[in-house]
Amino acid sequence: MSRLAMLGGTPAVPAGSTDPAATDWPVVTEAEEAAVLRVLRSGRLTATAAGEPEIVALEREWAEYAGVAHCVAVGSGTAALQVALAAAGVRPGDRVVVPALTMNATAHAVRQCGAEPVFADIDPDTYTLDPTRVPEALTARTTALLPVHLHGLPADLDALRSAAPGLAVVEDAAQAHGASYRGRAAGALGLAGCFSLHPSKNLPTCGEGGLITTDSDEVHRAALALRNFGERPPVRTRSYIAHGPGGNARLGPVQAAFTRCQLERLPEQTKERDRVVGAFLGRLAELPGLRVPVVPADRTHAWHILRLRLVPAKLGLPGVAPAAVRRVLHRALRAEGVPLSQYQVAPLPAHPAFRPAGLSVDEIAERFPVAGATVDGTLCLQRRQLNPAAGPVLQAYARGFEKVWEHLPVIRDMVRAQPSDDWRRALAGEAR
Ligand SMILES: Cc1ncc(COP(=O)(O)O)c(C=O)c1O
Repeated sequence: MSRLAMLGGTPAVPAGSTDPAATDWPVVTEAEEAAVLRVLRSGRLTATAAGEPEIVALEREWAEYAGVAHCVAVGSGTAALQVALAAAGVRPGDRVVVPALTMNATAHAVRQCGAEPVFADIDPDTYTLDPTRVPEALTARTTALLPVHLHGLPADLDALRSAAPGLAVVEDAAQAHGASYRGRAAGALGLAGCFSLHPSKNLPTCGEGGLITTDSDEVHRAALALRNFGERPPVRTRSYIAHGPGGNARLGPVQAAFTRCQLERLPEQTKERDRVVGAFLGRLAELPGLRVPVVPADRTHAWHILRLRLVPAKLGLPGVAPAAVRRVLHRALRAEGVPLSQYQVAPLPAHPAFRPAGLSVDEIAERFPVAGATVDGTLCLQRRQLNPAAGPVLQAYARGFEKVWEHLPVIRDMVRAQPSDDWRRALAGEAR
C-alpha cells in the first residue's frame, strides 16, 4: 500500500498530473473576447448610455431562462439582495429571517436596508433554512424570509411559506443558477430571486454583477428605481429627478455582454456538470463515514459547492469531535492533491457583526447546533467541479479519497492526537 502523501508518500494526484484547463473557471472563449470588444468599440460603457443594448438583452434572456416576467441587472449579488429586499417592502426596523449558515453577504444586505437579520438553523441534510426552526425566529416585526439555496440546492420553499404565512420570500439564489424546485427554476420561487455573477459562480461575469428576478410588476418597478438613484426609467432622455430612495447599483455593459455568452452555455454546462459530479459523488458514496449531498426528489442541484459530511462513528471514531476528524482528513486529502477548502468557518450569528446582543458564542453554539456541526464535520470542494470538462480531474480526486480511506487506521491515530474542540477555536483566533 502506498504511503500517505502527508507522511512523505507520492500524492495520489501529483502536481501537474491533471489538465489545468479542465478546471479553469470561468471558461473564456473567443465569444467573450468579441463581446467585450463589441462593447468597448460601441462607446456605450454604462447602463445609462442611450440605446445601451447588452443589459436589456441580458435581462430579457435571464427572465426567459428563469421563467419569470422581469429581471433587473445590478452591480453584485449583494446589491441584488439589498435592492430586492427593499423593493419587496423591507423597511428600517423590520426583521428578516436568515439561515445560520450562509455567506455573510446575506445578512449584510438585510442590514443595508436598515432591517435586522434574525437567524434560524439549517436542515442537516440540505444545508438550507430549516422550516421547522422558522416559527421560533418570527416576531411581530418580521416582514420577510431570506432563504439561501446554499451550494446550489433550492431550499424547501413550500414548507418555508407554510411556516411563515403572509411573509415576503426573497430567494438568495447567488449559488443556484440552473437549479430547480418542483419544476420551477431557482429565482422563480419567491416574490423575488437574487443571483450573483461573481466569476466564481455558475453564471459568471468578468468583474462583479448580479441579477434580480420577479413576476411582480411592483417589485420590478421599485427595483429599477432603487438601482438608479430613485429615478424613473427614461421615456426618451434621462430626467435625473429622484422620486424615492435609491443609489447606484447598476451593472456595466461589458459585464452584461460577457455573461450573455456564458448564459448561452449554461443549460448544456449544467447538464454535463450534473453528470460528472454524479459520477464523482457515486464513487465517494462507497467510502464508509463519508456522506455525499442529499438531493430530494423534488429538486435539482446546481453543484456550486460540494459539501461532504463526515460521520465519525462510521469512520471508527465514535465520540470523537467532528472538527478533529475534519482537520486531519482535510490535511491528508490536500496533501494527496485534492484541493479542498473550508466554506464558512463559523455559523453566521457567531460573527461579531451579527451576534445578537447579549448572546455569548457558547449560547450561539447551543442555539444553532446544525450550522455548527456542519462547519465542524464537513469537507468542501469549490470551483474545481464547475467546468464540465473536469470529469477526469474529479475521478483523480476520487482516487485521492480512496487512498486516504485505505489508511484509516493511521488517520484515526492522528485524529485522536487532535484537540477535542469545535468551530469556536477559529473564532477565538479571529478575536486578536
Ligand atoms: C449565498 C451568497 N449570497 C450572496 C452573495 C454575494 O454575492 P456577490 O459576491 O456577487 O456580492 C454570495 C457570494 O459569494 C453568496 O454566496
